[in-house]
Formats: sequence, structure tokens, C-alpha cells
Amino acid sequence: MKRTAISAAATLRASTAVSGSASATLTRMAPVLSSGSSKREVHEINVPDWGHYKREAQEGGESGGRAFSYMVLGTAGVGYAAAAKHTVIKFLDSMNPAANVRAMANVEVDVSNIAEGTIMTVKWRGKPLFIRHRTAEEIADAESAPLTDMRDPCPDAARRKADKPEWLIVLGVCTHLGCVPLGGQGEYGGWFCPCHGSHYDTAGRIRKGPAPLNLEVPPYVFKDDSKVLVGVDSV
Ligand code: FES
Repeated sequence: MKRTAISAAATLRASTAVSGSASATLTRMAPVLSSGSSKREVHEINVPDWGHYKREAQEGGESGGRAFSYMVLGTAGVGYAAAAKHTVIKFLDSMNPAANVRAMANVEVDVSNIAEGTIMTVKWRGKPLFIRHRTAEEIADAESAPLTDMRDPCPDAARRKADKPEWLIVLGVCTHLGCVPLGGQGEYGGWFCPCHGSHYDTAGRIRKGPAPLNLEVPPYVFKDDSKVLVGVDSV
């Protein structure tokens, strides 16, 4: 028996896998021992298609792509959180009035130049403020007025400082529709609002007309006999 030389090394030919096919076909040309002449037998071997895994490996794989997406989303989230924090801080900061605005919220007035029986008008928080130096007669009228006659009953003592009955400080805004009343006029000698005819007495209480409430008394404190600070209750 003559051994036929292997005509060639085994030839491996992997057929190109058709895209989408589950496997590739490897055709092996195997030598066969025979007498006289050589014969070749062909064996078909199914080889799995590893292309899918190769592509994943090249691209980082599914888990790698997911991790990359998480990293991008996480970085963007941190950026958005930082921007939101900055915006909230700036917004809250804008809500805090500046020092000069806070200073304007209070006004200090020298009342030593306001003669008895006269009224000084100053601007406080954008509104007129009446500081009235009442006479003894005006104080007596305010204290003796019967509360039962009033629309918004309030004793005079509750609208001024106990030790300074001569000073009445009220906002110069009519409680009807916001006009500025005229001092020393009206049926009660206090203020008269010409817009719709409201009369206030010498304690700034509504006595007649459409206004529903007394003139508002703001917070204030006397720093001494001549200085009054409006806007606060104490110093
Ligand atoms: S606004 Fe003063 S009476 Fe109407």
C-alpha cells in the first residue's frame, strides 16, 4: 500500500458568512490515504459566527456602551444640579434687600421744628407720612370723642405714645381709595379727603364719609425729645 503524499496541507477555506447567518461553513480539504492516486474527501463543519461578539468587543460591548451612556448622563446631571443651585442662590440673594434699601425702610425725623398746631409731611416707604403736633384742645377733642360714634372705634391713647400725647403720626393715605387727605380740614378738624368726602378727627380716626378705617399708625419710636425714628418699634 502506497502512501500518497499529502498533496497539500489541509486547506481551510472559510466561506464568507452571509450577513445574518448564524454560522459560517468551514470546508476542509482533507487528504485521504489511498493506493495509486490520491482522493480527497470534503467535510463540512459548521462553525459559529463570532462576528457579533467581535463587533461588540470593538465597540466596547453592550455593557460598555451602557456605562458610557450612564457616565454622560451623570455628568450632565451634575452640571444641571450645579446650574440650578447657582440660580436658586442668586434668586434668594435678590430677595434680600440691600443695606441702602433697608436703611430707606426707616426714616428719622427731627420734630423740634414742627410748631404746635401744624403738620409736617415726610415721605416714608414711598407714601406720605403725617407728623402732627397737636394742641391741647385737639388732644382734648380726641380723648373725649365717644367711641360709639365711630366706624372704627379706637381710643386716642392707643394711637399715640403715652408720654407724648401731643404727637400723632399717621400714614397720609385715605383708607377708602388711597387719596391724600388734607390736614386741619373737615368737620372734625383732623383731615378731610376731597376725593369722596371722608372726614377724620384729630386722632386720625374716620368719623364720616366712605372710608372704612382709621388712618394707619406706623411703628415708630422717639430716640429723644426731638428725634423720632419711623419704621421700627424700638431702637
Ligand atoms: S379716597 Fe378718600 S374718600 Fe375716597
